[in-house]
Amino acid sequence: MGLKQIDHGTAEYKKMIQLRNQILRQPLGLNFSDQELESEKNEILIAAFDEENIVGCCVLSFQDQETLRLRQMAVHDSVQGKGIGASIMSFAENLARDKGYRYMIMHARDTAIGFYEKFGYKSKGSEFIEVNIPHQVMEKELV
Ligand SMILES: CC(C)(COP(=O)(O)OP(=O)(O)OC[C@H]1O[C@@H](n2cnc3c(N)ncnc32)[C@H](O)[C@@H]1OP(=O)(O)O)[C@@H](O)C(=O)NCCC(=O)NCCS
Repeated sequence: MGLKQIDHGTAEYKKMIQLRNQILRQPLGLNFSDQELESEKNEILIAAFDEENIVGCCVLSFQDQETLRLRQMAVHDSVQGKGIGASIMSFAENLARDKGYRYMIMHARDTAIGFYEKFGYKSKGSEFIEVNIPHQVMEKELV
């Protein structure tokens, strides 16, 4: 398994969208709009590949000058629980640190809060609804 940054609009990006659809959106009866995907052109796109197969991914979005927001975190359901999510987290945090960011935040689904807590993220504020399900903002200082 290897981790890398990928480019918007490439064949690898298409695989990423397929994975995100399968793991994050279709189970909720949702899809991505063209406008939503277009807005990712300037974002940091991270993917984990096992040979030519994408097995996991996330996106880092600019939040403010000190902060990146991690979103679209997904690992293929056939390989969840094998450390791929942890590797993506560490790759994303290192990349954010290298770029000089001080904080990472995310809108965590309630079901994923325990995962982010493993990496030192703390819930902040109260629960809210996004893509029709409960979420919480979580945050960590990247030291
Ligand atoms: C959440 C997700 C990204 C985790 O990836 P993963 O590759 O399965 O996780 P890992 O195997 O790297 O697990 C790392 C640690 O987190 C724990 N963990 C994994 N998923 C967890 C969860 N949902 N809740 C609590 N702990 C979790 C693991 O047990 C492991 O703990 P350990 O280090 O003590 O053994 C993955 O399960 C997934 O894609 N889920 C569906 C989509 C989703 O919810 N994405 C997040 C949206 S906010």
